[in-house]
Amino acid sequence: MTGSSASEAFEAIAPYYDLLMQSIPYLWWMHYVETLLEHFDRSAHKVLDLCCGTGNLSELFALSGYEVVGVDKSPAMIEQARRKAEASRSGVRYYVQDAAELALNETFDLIVSLFDSLNYITEPSRFAEAMRRAYQHLTSTGLFIFDLNTEYAFVHKLFDQSQLEPKAPLRYRWRSRYDKSTRLCTVEMEFWVREGNTERYFTEIHRQRAYSEAEVRQMLYAAGFAEVHTFDAYTLDPPTRRSDRVFYVALR
Ligand SMILES: C[S@@+](CC[C@H](N)C(=O)[O-])C[C@H]1O[C@@H](n2cnc3c(N)ncnc32)[C@H](O)[C@@H]1O
Repeated sequence: MTGSSASEAFEAIAPYYDLLMQSIPYLWWMHYVETLLEHFDRSAHKVLDLCCGTGNLSELFALSGYEVVGVDKSPAMIEQARRKAEASRSGVRYYVQDAAELALNETFDLIVSLFDSLNYITEPSRFAEAMRRAYQHLTSTGLFIFDLNTEYAFVHKLFDQSQLEPKAPLRYRWRSRYDKSTRLCTVEMEFWVREGNTERYFTEIHRQRAYSEAEVRQMLYAAGFAEVHTFDAYTLDPPTRRSDRVFYVALR
């Protein structure tokens, strides 16, 4: 596989993303976000799912009664999300936008960005801008909740995964390398999809940056947030040196 033949991240995989995510407990994730809201004694009605992908979480929030907007920079992912919203009549509004250039003429009680989406912003200045844009799109009592893969996850190669069962409808092999000097993790992803009697092969290169907790906190405070709290993923415990995913809760 060569880098030049690989698709832009999430463009080729978009039609198969939900197949890839079929065992992901999105409902449980939504309940975790609601637990965090309760923990900080805040409530939400209007939610922005930032880097929403194919809208799996957006749909669940909408079907639970929240007003939801989803934003993602990938047109192919948004196309899938819109298709689902049309079928479910969930009413979610989707926009193709980059989180670092977020410009919606409305504010939200809650902005949520899950599944290490913001690690994909590999330029620290753009990451900081994404924090500022999130702040600007929150109501005066709004919260920004997101998770990030940690450097521990990259060093311990948690991105090296494969599903090569011959009968699986979607097979894949991912290999990562982490460069400590740039803090960049590059993942070469190979996919094989069965379509009738034929099999389609494609590749994507994904790049994520490891942001330290200190730098994220600094960027959130610089953006204007009044409080920043962190948790070991899916718990109310503080992160440890071995946390592979950390949740951030930033309060306006
Ligand atoms: C791992 S997927 C997660 C999608 C969704 N949050 C979920 O939980 O299924 C990461 C998503 O982030 C999007 N993304 C990456 N960088 C982005 C950016 N700068 N602005 C907006 N979306 C971005 C990708 O297009 C992709 O859909």
